[in-house]
Amino acid sequence: MKDTIILGIETSCDETSVAVVRNGKEILSNLISSQVDIHKKFGGVVPEVASRQHVEVILPIMEEALAQAGVGLHDVDAIAVTYGPGLVGALLIGLSAAKAISYAADIPLIGVHHIAGHIYANRFVQDFDFPLIALVVSGGHTELVWMKEHGAYEVIGGTRDDAVGEAYDKVARSLGLSYPGGPEIDRLASEGKDILSFPRVYLEPESFDFSFSGLKSAVLNRLNQASQKGEELSKADVAASFQAAVVEVLVDKTIRSARERGAKQVLLAGGVAANRALRAELNRACAKEGIPLIIPPASLCTDNAAMIAAAGQILYEKGMFAPLDLNAYPNLKLE
Ligand SMILES: Nc1ncnc2c1ncn2[C@@H]1O[C@H](COP(=O)(O)OP(=O)(O)OP(=O)(O)O)[C@@H](O)[C@H]1O
Ligand SMILES: [Mg+2]
Repeated sequence: MKDTIILGIETSCDETSVAVVRNGKEILSNLISSQVDIHKKFGGVVPEVASRQHVEVILPIMEEALAQAGVGLHDVDAIAVTYGPGLVGALLIGLSAAKAISYAADIPLIGVHHIAGHIYANRFVQDFDFPLIALVVSGGHTELVWMKEHGAYEVIGGTRDDAVGEAYDKVARSLGLSYPGGPEIDRLASEGKDILSFPRVYLEPESFDFSFSGLKSAVLNRLNQASQKGEELSKADVAASFQAAVVEVLVDKTIRSARERGAKQVLLAGGVAANRALRAELNRACAKEGIPLIIPPASLCTDNAAMIAAAGQILYEKGMFAPLDLNAYPNLKLE
């Protein structure tokens, strides 16, 4: 069978990324221009600044991605682009570039959901075995996604308040760590102990939903209490205790959903999937349960265009192309 070459484009937040992927499984190039250093001084992503930065780098990055892959536009079978969810101004830059090239070079366009992309980062590691459960943990999402086949997503649980990544970033900020806080807490936690007994929030026993705002408040209250009393509180212990509370609930709910529904695989996806404690604990729990686990390498957990191309490959195989008036949807639903 002839190879399929997909050009992936991702600009939903603060990474401009273009990738070339063969048959949805093999990365020929995956260029990422991160704006983290630009947004760092503001303590978070500034949407307007993100859009401007995407405009500046999208075309040079695209040329570089094609050159590195050793392919020309005439080799590209489809352009897969993130059209939501994300920052609308940021999404529009990638989408406009994708549509312009699609029109000019007569290449079919495919619209990809950003979270479908995160899930498909796992396909670079191993092929999927259905049905499966994916734990999606990122800056904006915390979801358990049930998949019976390629491209079919059923969200069986989600966060009722903060996303995990958001909680990590807020706790990190209150500890005086730099943005983005997730990797900082990950590092600090390995030097501390889980001794502060922060709450494990399970909600109703049968629910697959999550809640992290209570935990976040508990951490902030504990920090305030300590500073009022002039008590020395180890930042490493706070990080370790917060992380332990997060990881325990994530792992327990994932394993329970996999067991109850008879999943053949567990997938971990999203920026927080780079977290070392989460990777280790989920690995241990899946091994104990006897369920195969796939985790992407840390470099493919955060936003990148290769994962968008991989998710786009499935839509390509189904012939699900997008019209040239495809719009950006900041709150696009996965299902
Ligand atoms: N090692 C780590 N431990 C914990 N959190 C991490 C780690 N590395 C990255 N993160 C967190 O991952 C988040 C970024 O992930 P990602 O780029 O997928 O989010 P996003 O694209 O902004 O959101 P979404 O994918 O929901 O639209 C940030 O909140 C960051 O702090
Ligand atoms: Mg993301």
